[in-house]
Amino acid sequence: MARIAIVTGAGQGIGEGIARQLSQDGLTVAVADMNEQNANKVAEAIGNNAKGYYVDVSKKQSVFDLIDQVVADYGQLNVLVNNAGIAKIGTILDVKEEDFDQIMAVNIKGVLFGMQAAATQFKKQGTGGKIISASSIAGHQGFELLGPYSATKFAVRGLTQVAAQELAKDKITVNSYAPGIVLTKMWDQIDAEMAKIYNVPIGETLQKNIDSIALGRGETPADVANLVSFLADPKSDYITGQTIIVDGGIQFV
Ligand SMILES: NC(=O)c1ccc[n+]([C@@H]2O[C@H](COP(=O)([O-])OP(=O)(O)OC[C@H]3O[C@@H](n4cnc5c(N)ncnc54)[C@H](O)[C@@H]3O)[C@@H](O)[C@H]2O)c1
Repeated sequence: MARIAIVTGAGQGIGEGIARQLSQDGLTVAVADMNEQNANKVAEAIGNNAKGYYVDVSKKQSVFDLIDQVVADYGQLNVLVNNAGIAKIGTILDVKEEDFDQIMAVNIKGVLFGMQAAATQFKKQGTGGKIISASSIAGHQGFELLGPYSATKFAVRGLTQVAAQELAKDKITVNSYAPGIVLTKMWDQIDAEMAKIYNVPIGETLQKNIDSIALGRGETPADVANLVSFLADPKSDYITGQTIIVDGGIQFV
């Protein structure tokens, strides 16, 4: 029987790339997103028994319902990719409390609820499993104008380290991926809002960031998906608690 993976935020961007890759790797993929229409579209394009699901990762019940539904449909769960995330752009002085609360809810609580729901299911199965979450290079070094976002991505590393230690006895590995400058709608949004703040043309901030990449090109969802493919595979069974940078050479830690 094929292993079953859930990818959240898989209706577009990096999550879609991960869902496609895991399906190519032979896993059956539950494509989960708040935008259910996009999730269904991606699942249909992937084929291979993939199915679209609604989830709002900021709501605990929604995450637990998703996992119950996937297990009801496919019989088990083997991999959870906590990919869904949002960005907010602005100076520390301009951070609005409601924006702060929202980004914490999606990017940190979403990861926490995913860890809780997946680990509960893995323990019930007695199979072990893999939990893989989205951090960022902004989770290793704070990124100007992305204060709360950077804080959430540092937090993902923290949760990953602790969950790895607590869940190791149940044969559950917990790791994160830290992408760099990935050419998705999220970076279109970051570039557009930074253009306003810095008073520069659209595209300039993105290009400046791409110029800082040693390998000389922007990152694609497939670049991230190749790392997640490894973290979802038994080949990575001896790796846990790590946040692995995949950025084409921006940060060297
Ligand atoms: N783009 C980058 O350069 C970059 C770099 C580092 C890390 N990341 C991280 O990778 C992940 C994916 O980023 P992306 O660039 O593909 O973003 P994106 O904005 O293109 O896609 C995000 C997806 O998540 C979904 N989503 C948002 N809130 C949700 C919620 N509450 N519940 C369920 N789904 C929700 C959206 O509908 C969307 O389909 C995020 O966690 C992001 O922080 C992105």
